Amino acid sequence: MVAQRSSVDAVTLSQKRILLVIGGGIAAYKSLDLIRRLRERGAAVRCVLTAGAQQFITPLAAAALSGTRAHTDLFDREDEADIGHIRLARDADAVVVAPATANLMAKMAGGHADDLASTVLLATTLPILMAPAMNVRMWLHPATQRNLSVLRADGVTVVGPNEGAMAEAEFGPGRMAEPLEIVAALERLVGRSGTGAAGPLAGKRVLVTSGPTHEPIDPVRYIANRSSGRQGHAIAAAAAAAGAEVTLVSGPVSLPDPPGVRTVHVESARDMLAAVEAALPVDVGVFAAAVADWRTAENAAQKLKKDGKLPPPLKLVENPDILATIAHRDTGRPRLVIGFAAETENVIEHARRKLARKGCDLIVANDVAPGTGVMGGAHNTVHLVTRDTVESWPTLGKDEVARRLVERIATLLGS
Ligand code: CTP
Repeated sequence: MVAQRSSVDAVTLSQKRILLVIGGGIAAYKSLDLIRRLRERGAAVRCVLTAGAQQFITPLAAAALSGTRAHTDLFDREDEADIGHIRLARDADAVVVAPATANLMAKMAGGHADDLASTVLLATTLPILMAPAMNVRMWLHPATQRNLSVLRADGVTVVGPNEGAMAEAEFGPGRMAEPLEIVAALERLVGRSGTGAAGPLAGKRVLVTSGPTHEPIDPVRYIANRSSGRQGHAIAAAAAAAGAEVTLVSGPVSLPDPPGVRTVHVESARDMLAAVEAALPVDVGVFAAAVADWRTAENAAQKLKKDGKLPPPLKLVENPDILATIAHRDTGRPRLVIGFAAETENVIEHARRKLARKGCDLIVANDVAPGTGVMGGAHNTVHLVTRDTVESWPTLGKDEVARRLVERIATLLGS
């Protein structure tokens, strides 16, 4: 008899009960493999299939692999008598949605409950891991990216989608993450990682600056800019999700602090520099803040009054350049220093000059000309500029830009 050896070394999801919601896409076939991978790691898996999913795989296949009957109907008398949709939403340790189609994501983001899958997802308070899969154009559509942002803000963890050739002979992001990638993301969410490493940036310290700075004129007035902090905050969140120990130094924004990130709140450029220096040493510094270039030479102690005289002249002095200060440090320079360049014309050329002047390793350049909607918006069209290369990314949600940038950081640190 041939001795069987499992390819799985660690039973990392032992005793975990996973509710797997399978949406209607061609990637549903990979979810059958996902069931197997989850069970190999000791998890008990219960499946819910949408009507769409049943066009691609059968409840019988899901039941055979999970070892328990698969659920399909909200108003199924047998189902309701057996476990019921509210118990389905409760009696587990986590919910995995794979594939999460554009429609399922829209329903989740909108709080719809018109079938068993969406009702369970609305009724659950468990951690949710979602693996989107759809056509590249559907993924990049502003509606889907908007839904993605809503779902992330609701606390849903997202894995993938990956880039590659798609069923419709198109290329781009939209392929569902591979079953083992989904398993790894789930282990980070609820279980123990088999390797002891909790992500590609595990053990790394990352510093991110984000948001605008406010430079006071007097106790009630200040100079500011239109930065929302969305991109910087998304990078901090993505780095934390990749296992890094993250410090976010944030100017005044109306965003919540990202979960799992140490957030230091500052107002002015000088405060930001002090907080950044206090956070060193780090492996990576990402300088996404829109730091005010100037501050007033004097900050009036009392509110300036009109007094019927001429308007007060505002004398400005230059603020310290935080990025350049850190990038030019002799000791304690992060291994990787990444700057941003918000430009309104000649984006690449200006970014190159900025890279050299500020001494950073990589510049994420973007066009913020009026009409692009980047400042304060949910999307970004960026170019990764190094001394010798330029890589232009398509227009993506800021969360997706963050996720890819973090992937790139992990690669750069590894090489
Ligand atoms: N930056 C910084 N401190 C400053 C100004 C900018 O750390 N006082 C950082 C930003 O966080 C960003 C990069 O430098 O990573 C480029 O910012 P940007 O405002 O585009 O560049 P400036 O130096 O202000 O150049 P200019 O305004 O002339 O385009």
